[in-house]
Formats: sequence, C-alpha cells, structure tokens
Amino acid sequence: MTRAHIELGNVTPHNIKQLKKLNSVVFPVSYNDKFYKDVLEAGELAKLAYYNDIVVGAVCCRIDTSEKSRRLYIMTLGCLYPYRRLGIGTMMVQHVLNYVERDGDFDSIFLHVQVNNEGAIDFYKQFGFEVVETKEHYYKRIEPADAHVLQKTLRKKGESNGTKISNDDSGKDGFRKH
Ligand SMILES: CC(C)(COP(=O)(O)OP(=O)(O)OC[C@H]1O[C@@H](n2cnc3c(N)ncnc32)[C@H](O)[C@@H]1OP(=O)(O)O)[C@@H](O)C(=O)NCCC(=O)NCCS
Repeated sequence: MTRAHIELGNVTPHNIKQLKKLNSVVFPVSYNDKFYKDVLEAGELAKLAYYNDIVVGAVCCRIDTSEKSRRLYIMTLGCLYPYRRLGIGTMMVQHVLNYVERDGDFDSIFLHVQVNNEGAIDFYKQFGFEVVETKEHYYKRIEPADAHVLQKTLRKKGESNGTKISNDDSGKDGFRKH
C-alpha cells in the first residue's frame, strides 16, 4: 500500500467554500463573512490541508498587535475527525512555527480553546504551548463557555529583536535570535 500524501495548499476564492464547510463541521462556533474575507487576504497565514486530494484540515491565523506586543493568533486549526492522529495537525502547527521563525519578530503565538478540549490542549503542549490564562464566559453560545488561552512564548517581555539571550534556557527552542 502506498503512503498517503499530505500537503498544505492556499485558500483561494475557488476553494473557500470547502474551508467554510470544514470549519462548520470541526468547530462548535461559526465564523462570519468578515472572517472569510480576511482569510482570503491572509496569504501564508491561512492554509488548507489535503489528504491525497481531499481537503481534511485548515489553519487560519492573524497578526495581533494589541497589548503592546506583536503576536500570532491562531483563530482556527482543525482536522476532520476521521483524519485525526495522522500528523495533519502537526503539519499545520509546523507551518505556523516556520512562519514565525522566518519572520523573526513575533513575541508569541496564542489561541483560545474551550476548557474541556483536553485533546487539543495535549496536542498544543507538545509544541511548547502552555495555559497562561482562563477566560470565563468567553464563548456566548456553547458550553462550557470558558476558554483557556494557550500561548507559546517566543520572546520575553522587554527583549528586542536580535537580542542575545544569556540565561540557561537560550537555545531550547528554535525561535530566539542568537
Ligand atoms: C487538535 C487537532 C487539530 C489535532 O490534530 P491531529 O491531526 O489529530 O494531530 P496530530 O496527528 O498531528 O497529533 C500529534 C500529537 O498530538 C497529540 N494529540 C493529538 N490529538 C490528541 C488527543 N485528542 N488527545 C491526546 N493527545 C493528542 C498526540 O501526542 C499526537 O501524537 P500521536 O498521534 O503520535 O499520539 C484535532 O484534534 C482537531 O481538529 N480538533 C478539533 C479542532 C480543535 O479543537 N482545534 C484546536 C483549537 S484551534
């Protein structure tokens, strides 16, 4: 048997309906027209995941510059249930990690997850994300309504781009500038 081929592809006006359908199946919240309009202009920050020729996953991010920092926000990252545990989620996170590494000027990557989404929390912890905050009543229409903020720190507060890190943790991840 030949191995399945997994790859990422761009979101375009021709396949945006597949992204909408996928997100409606994978996530308990729905996303509005503005979300999809922005995604079409997001370039490398939005990708579809293909299993052979079938769309089975997608990742959509945006750059967030609130709170005096430059952060990458993962709005959605999901894979259809029958195609989970095949490395597709990992490929999408790796794409995001490569993006921030190439850019070199992000403080962190973050996202919200429903507090009962233990699978996703375990998944993200593998990549160095940790729960940094829990927001009560974050979701309006789903239960539980609380969300954890998962964050992967790339740069400590006050550390500017290009600064050499002198503590013992330097070099533990690939995103710090040396
Ligand atoms: C979270 C999610 C994206 C993971 O996608 P995936 O394609 O199954 O992930 P991978 O196959 O790359 O998993 C990599 C590793 O993460 C961990 N992991 C993934 N899903 C897990 C789960 N449900 N429970 C525990 N660990 C899990 C495992 O260690 C796994 O390695 P293994 O399969 O060799 O044990 C997927 O479960 C999903 O789409 N969930 C619904 C959407 C969602 O909740 N997204 C998160 C908020 S944006």
